[in-house]
Amino acid sequence: MKYAIGLDLGGSSIKYGLVSNKGDILQEGKIPSFADESSDRIIEQLLLAVDTVKEYATNNNIELCGIGIGTPGIVDQINGVVLGGAENLKGWENIPLGDIISKYSGLKVWVNNDANVMGLAETRFGIAKGCTDVVFLTVGTGIGGALIIDGKLYGGYKNRGTELGHFPFIADGEPCACGSVGCLETYASAAAMVGRYKRMYKDMNDMECSDVDGEEIVRLYKNGDKLAMAAIDENCRFLGHGIAGFINIFSPQKVVIGGGLADAGEFYLEKIREASRLYVMPDCALNTTIEAAILGNSAGFMGAAGLCLNE
Ligand code: BGC
Repeated sequence: MKYAIGLDLGGSSIKYGLVSNKGDILQEGKIPSFADESSDRIIEQLLLAVDTVKEYATNNNIELCGIGIGTPGIVDQINGVVLGGAENLKGWENIPLGDIISKYSGLKVWVNNDANVMGLAETRFGIAKGCTDVVFLTVGTGIGGALIIDGKLYGGYKNRGTELGHFPFIADGEPCACGSVGCLETYASAAAMVGRYKRMYKDMNDMECSDVDGEEIVRLYKNGDKLAMAAIDENCRFLGHGIAGFINIFSPQKVVIGGGLADAGEFYLEKIREASRLYVMPDCALNTTIEAAILGNSAGFMGAAGLCLNE
C-alpha cells in the first residue's frame, strides 16, 4: 500500500488529506488559505497542512511516498512552478512551489492545476469512473477546467492550456481578473452569481445587502426568494451555454461539475442541462450527460495525492 499527502489550495481554504493508492482517506482537514494576503502567507498555510498530516503519519507509522498539490493557475508541472493565471490569489505567480515544499518536508512533490487534479480524481474514483472522455469544471470563486481525452489528462502543450473558465464567452463583455474581458468565469462562477445578486439587491432596495455567499443564495432560492431565483437562473443559463460549447468541441461522455455550487441540488444541475440543450448540437451531445461531482471537498486533495500515488 502507498500513501501520500494531498493538498488542494483554493481562494478561501486549503483542504488536505492523507490518501492511499486505493483511494482511502486516513486523515483530512481544512484551514484558511489567506489567499487575499500574500504568497508568503499562503505558503505558510500549506506548510502547516503538511506538518499536520506528517505528524499523523509519524504517529501511525505510515510511510509517505510524497506530496501532491493542486493549485489555481498555470503550472509547469515538470519543475513544480506556478507560472501565473491565478488572479484570485495575491502574488501567486512564478512560485517554485515544488522546491519550497520539498525542501521543507524532505519529500518528493508533484504540482498541477487544481481543476486538473479534481478532474483526475472524479475520473479515477468519482462520478466519471470508467469514462475515457470527460470535461470537468469546478465552479467557485473562479471556474477551472480539466479535460480527460482518451483516458489521459490533456493539458495542452507544456500544460499551459485547458483554462476553460477563461473561454472568451462574450465579446466586449465584463472585465475578467485575468486581464481579458467576457470570460465564462466572469458570468458563470459562484462569485459572479453573488455579485449579480448583490447588484440586484442594491437596485431594488437602494442599500447594500449584508454579506451573502453562494450557499446563502441557494438557501434563499429554496425559500422562493425572487432575487436569488433570478441570480441562479441567469448563472445556470450562462454555464449551460458555455458547456454546450465544450460539448460541441469535445463530445465527452460526461461533463462533471464540481465546486461548492455542485452541491446545490438536482434543480441546479437540471437548469444547466436545460440551458445546454438549447445551444448544443444534438449530434455532438448524443453520448454526453451533465453530472455533479461526487467527491465533494475531497476531490482536490485526492486528485493531488493521486499525482504521486500513480507514479
Ligand atoms: C484560474 C484557474 C483555476 C480556477 C479554479 C481560475 O480563475 O485561472 O487556473 O483552475 O480559477 O480555481
